[in-house]
Amino acid sequence: MVKVGIAGGSGYGGVELIHILLRHPHVELTWISSQQHAGKKLEEVYPHLRKFLDIRFSALEEVPASQLDVLFLALPHGEAMKLVPGLPQKLVIIDLSGDFRIADPRIFEEFYHFPLSCPQEQKAFVYGLTELNREKIRAARRIANPGCFATATLLALYPLFQENWIKGPVFVDTKTGSSGAGNSPRDATHHPRRANSLFAYKPFKHQHLPEITQALERPDYPLILQTHSAPFVRGIFASHYVELAKSATAEEVAKLYESYYAADFFIRWLPGSPDVNLVRHSNFVDIGAATQNGFLIVWSVLDNLQKGAAGQAVQNMNLICGFREETALDLPPVHP
Ligand SMILES: NC(=O)c1ccc[n+]([C@@H]2O[C@H](COP(=O)([O-])OP(=O)(O)OC[C@H]3O[C@@H](n4cnc5c(N)ncnc54)[C@H](OP(=O)(O)O)[C@@H]3O)[C@@H](O)[C@H]2O)c1
Repeated sequence: MVKVGIAGGSGYGGVELIHILLRHPHVELTWISSQQHAGKKLEEVYPHLRKFLDIRFSALEEVPASQLDVLFLALPHGEAMKLVPGLPQKLVIIDLSGDFRIADPRIFEEFYHFPLSCPQEQKAFVYGLTELNREKIRAARRIANPGCFATATLLALYPLFQENWIKGPVFVDTKTGSSGAGNSPRDATHHPRRANSLFAYKPFKHQHLPEITQALERPDYPLILQTHSAPFVRGIFASHYVELAKSATAEEVAKLYESYYAADFFIRWLPGSPDVNLVRHSNFVDIGAATQNGFLIVWSVLDNLQKGAAGQAVQNMNLICGFREETALDLPPVHP
């Protein structure tokens, strides 16, 4: 059994981690933090977890680092970097925020609008996109878990970049559900504003853009990313518009994706459009495509709290701890 703690256990990423880890056969969840709920029982804040875990929230400052094997950080951007330098080297840290994803501190500051306070610590972090980085993750003790948009886009574009199928810029149009913004309501995330609505935000400058081009090893590639707020609770739907270097048939496109992800349980190829409803509450990423006259549209969908955050974080923990990669994650999506 590994002893696990969650900093930010009261947030949406944190409670999703709790939900997954409750069914993990090799994990003992011993510590969770919340600043505003410190001292309260988990079930007071999250009644849906009554009868599943008898634990109280602690303040972040009380983290019992020497008694834990793995610590998940599910804190807002900028908070993990304050904590990590004081934590023991032997502790496995999996950070869900963007703090340690970007290798170049200047690029980090350009997109996050504040400096990375511990650039030396950043060097120890491995980018946790499991399917692209499995062996490095297995050997790591520090994981920068990817962003939800970045996960959807990287898995959709990676085979095309690897095989040099792309000519010219790539246009990425992506939509997120409201849980992507966390559990503190703000003007643009409030239900009356979001329900039955659709709007764009952060044109060209979303903070997931540099982690996408960094992971593709094409830092200057013209990749135009537009994110949108969509009127559902969970899910990312990403469309990628590409001009092909050489025309391909639908069968050739299918063969490319099927062969790239043949060994990856959580990636599913399907002909045609995927659907956010068909990956909900699961760690799956569904990818589909259509092609005509040398152009290609690739769609990818995932659950932002699962493969986009907590699910992928647990997938990475499983690799690091030597557990079967799918442990606690190999459940089918919930539908309808
Ligand atoms: N939501 C997603 O779909 C998603 C996907 C991928 C990555 N992420 C990333 O995961 C991280 C957590 O996101 P989330 O959606 O779970 O956010 P959230 O719902 O807003 O939860 C934030 C958590 O951090 C705690 N917290 C807030 N400010 C703090 C501070 N100054 N010091 C210590 N603790 C503090 C909160 O505790 P209190 O109980 O005191 O408020 C809460 O437990 C973020 O970095 C986010 O970008 C989220």
